[in-house]
Amino acid sequence: MDIAIIGAGNVGAALAKGWAKKGHTIFFGVRNPGDSKYQALKGQLGSGAKFVQPSEAARTANVVVLATPWPQTEAAVKSLGALSGKIVIDATNPLKSDLSGLTHGYTTSAAELIQSWIPDAKVIKAFNTVGANIMEKPEVKGYKAMMYFCGNDAEARQTVKKLISDIGFEPIEAGDLTQARLLEPLAMLWIKSAYVFGLGRDFAFGLLKAS
Ligand SMILES: NC(=O)c1ccc[n+]([C@@H]2O[C@H](COP(=O)([O-])OP(=O)(O)OC[C@H]3O[C@@H](n4cnc5c(N)ncnc54)[C@H](OP(=O)(O)O)[C@@H]3O)[C@@H](O)[C@H]2O)c1
Repeated sequence: MDIAIIGAGNVGAALAKGWAKKGHTIFFGVRNPGDSKYQALKGQLGSGAKFVQPSEAARTANVVVLATPWPQTEAAVKSLGALSGKIVIDATNPLKSDLSGLTHGYTTSAAELIQSWIPDAKVIKAFNTVGANIMEKPEVKGYKAMMYFCGNDAEARQTVKKLISDIGFEPIEAGDLTQARLLEPLAMLWIKSAYVFGLGRDFAFGLLKAS
């Protein structure tokens, strides 16, 4: 599958490596594709990834991942051109600049705001609830880390479920896009656990099922 990833930072790079291993082609949408800061990533991904302008990446692929800092996300989305009918995976978290909490929540979510900017796209929230270090290797002591995802379009949810499995996570459906109001605070819990409650970044949420 052709996948556009907008932003080639921690999250974009981690997801690209996992999907490239599974044979997907990555179109990184970055504002300066020739920047030397992408050399190492280009070397790691080889022909599995192309670096192009964000609008070209979004035009080429049917799945577009938003891996941009929240304050830049609206401008990034609006630079992509028409996204009608495309699956847009929102991996962002609307963090306050001091990481003390979220700028949106309870009555809406970043994912729902994004959907309101691109009403004809199929927004799915995913890949926001653990650190990018876990996305590089979503297995802890032989157990798969879990990845909640939610969105309004059932077919799009199935496509994203497979893409979550391809990265190596256990995908867990969490209903429609309003449930991002739960997934974004869950990310905040991961961040606080890592940086405030003493767990560090090397942990993931997992699911224990009795049957
Ligand atoms: N880091 C994590 O562990 C983690 C985990 C889960 C979710 N998240 C969320 O995922 C998102 C990305 O986090 P990150 O750590 O990967 O951030 P990051 O390392 O800072 O990377 C952000 C990327 O977004 C690009 N970008 C910024 N504005 C853009 C625009 N208008 N158009 C296109 N690209 C643009 C940046 O490009 P330039 O270099 O050109 O500025 C950079 O490549 C955030 O919302 C974060 O809250 C992060």
